[in-house]
Amino acid sequence: MPTILVTGANRGLGLEFVRQFGADGWRVHACCRDPQQAAELGRMARSLPDVRVHRLSVSDGTSVADLAADLAGEPIDILLNNAGTYGLRGFAEGGMADQSFGSMDYAAWEHAFAVNTMAPLRMMEALVDNVAASAQKKMFVISSSMGSIGQPPGGHLAYGSTKAAVNFVASTLAQDLRSRGITVMSLHPGWVQTDMGGSMASLKPTQSVAGLKQVMEAASLATSGRFVDYNGRQVAW
Ligand SMILES: NC(=O)c1ccc[n+]([C@@H]2O[C@H](COP(=O)([O-])OP(=O)(O)OC[C@H]3O[C@@H](n4cnc5c(N)ncnc54)[C@H](OP(=O)(O)O)[C@@H]3O)[C@@H](O)[C@H]2O)c1
Repeated sequence: MPTILVTGANRGLGLEFVRQFGADGWRVHACCRDPQQAAELGRMARSLPDVRVHRLSVSDGTSVADLAADLAGEPIDILLNNAGTYGLRGFAEGGMADQSFGSMDYAAWEHAFAVNTMAPLRMMEALVDNVAASAQKKMFVISSSMGSIGQPPGGHLAYGSTKAAVNFVASTLAQDLRSRGITVMSLHPGWVQTDMGGSMASLKPTQSVAGLKQVMEAASLATSGRFVDYNGRQVAW
């Protein structure tokens, strides 16, 4: 069976990715900051055929290097950069205020860049040989339509700019890694009921991930470099 690595696997969309790929029999490397606190992920790992839990803080270079050393030589069909942060506060906590013009929280913006933009690149650099050694050779970044430069949502300056920047990273790597046969895409999950999306969101994690999973399975060098949503529809850059 193929192998997927998921970051931010302890809750929200990441946990649901583990559940759905794991239930299909994939080997899942499920990465989270604190495995001992990840009770639900631990239960999943015990009940699904091949889920392996790893400690990983994506914004910490040493932690990424340690994971890459642990996984040296192991083919990874899909590297899924899912971990993300809105900033210091989520939507559910009224997160907009600290990212509006005139009241920007610059420290939160820096942190969001480290997690949402720099970490996916660091992960892809660290694990590119694992992906290149696999059958499917795919890397994805869970981005957001809030990073659209053509159709900005208004406000959300910190979060949106980190997602716009990671789209640039993904689009560039799609070009640069094509010669190695590696597909790279940015994915928008929709507005989803997680800690980040809040309870008013329109989609359940099961719906979003079911759609994204189909998009990921259908992805190929022909679709590499695209920015699409959970239904496979193109999102404006
Ligand atoms: N929900 C939405 O409506 C929505 C919409 C568009 C895009 N997205 C994107 O979808 C992805 C998943 O979001 P979600 O809704 O599932 O959010 P979530 O419920 O808030 O979960 C975020 C996940 O990222 C992890 N994470 C944050 N910083 C990390 C770090 N430094 N190292 C390792 N893991 C870290 C968290 O781990 P801890 O538990 O340790 O904090 C958690 O597992 C994110 O990239 C988000 O930007 C979500």
